[in-house]
Amino acid sequence: MEQQQYDSLAAIQTASDTAALKEVRLHYLGKSGAISCLSERMRTLSKEERPAMGQLLNQWRNTFTEALEAKGKILLDQADAATFASLDATLPGTASWQGGMHPLTLLTDRIVQIFRRLGFTMAEGPDIDDEWHCFDSLNTPLDHPARQEQDTFYLPDGRLLRTHTSTVQIRAMEQAPPPLRIIAPGAAYRRDEIDATHLSQFTQMEVLCVGKGITLGDLKGTAEFFFRELFGTETECRFRPHFFPFTEPSYEIDVRSSTLSHQWLELAGCGMVDPAVFEALNKKRGDRAYDPEEISGFAFGFGLERLVMILTGISDIRMLTENDLRFLKQFAREF
Ligand code: DAH
Repeated sequence: MEQQQYDSLAAIQTASDTAALKEVRLHYLGKSGAISCLSERMRTLSKEERPAMGQLLNQWRNTFTEALEAKGKILLDQADAATFASLDATLPGTASWQGGMHPLTLLTDRIVQIFRRLGFTMAEGPDIDDEWHCFDSLNTPLDHPARQEQDTFYLPDGRLLRTHTSTVQIRAMEQAPPPLRIIAPGAAYRRDEIDATHLSQFTQMEVLCVGKGITLGDLKGTAEFFFRELFGTETECRFRPHFFPFTEPSYEIDVRSSTLSHQWLELAGCGMVDPAVFEALNKKRGDRAYDPEEISGFAFGFGLERLVMILTGISDIRMLTENDLRFLKQFAREF
């Protein structure tokens, strides 16, 4: 039995892989293995012989299984090391798709960067606002036709989902005296029928600059700089007289560029902040920080979905809200 024991341990040592080690294990511990057979044979031994034999057998089984486990570990480590040695950890990996930014988010970021360079900072306001911030303060009284046009979603308590981001102009001016230079991207809501060019929730960007001696020239220069950054240096802007209650004079900005197939596109509304807006703020603030005799300002606002549609060449605005990855992936890194 001593020889057998010796052989069994030697067999473990010479096993060169896990398959060979399994064979060795079966050979000794399997049903008809040497150790198992000897255990069986114990029954035939006399009472006197049994304890000594039993002890020997147990010892063998223990040293054998311990050696088996140790060798198993070594073989596994060797296999790991071999796999590792064949790997070149300096090679670039195969990156998996981690997700990307929505085209609207990418465009927003890009526009924010452009205005940052002109010293504008980001401002925010709530999506659920009150009639004063959305209409009254913006010189749009209850009987004003614009209020009909912008039929929105009202909450039972009289608050509403803002119909434009112009509310943030008011909120920014409530919070701080001039000079002020802010942009405010955010959601706007209208009770429009949803179709290829309308959503009931969409995204706008508001721009406001207030201070001493701000002129229409500043408005034109800023808008032109912005659209040229966006569409290329040869982009032209046309300021077409229009009406907005909160600006006087007011214009719509048409933009033409080779990247826009040379067609005039109406892209924004703008104007010089109406003195009535400043006076509404003074009343609310209880001071004369926005005295229209002292300061002036310009504002403009535009829809972001429209710009994304132009830049990506899509013709149905609904694609931006459907979350179809086949669509989104195409534009995720476009801007
Ligand atoms: N709020 C306007 C709209 O939703 C867009 C707009 C026009 C914003 C003129 C302005 C502005 O700041 O001066 O149609």
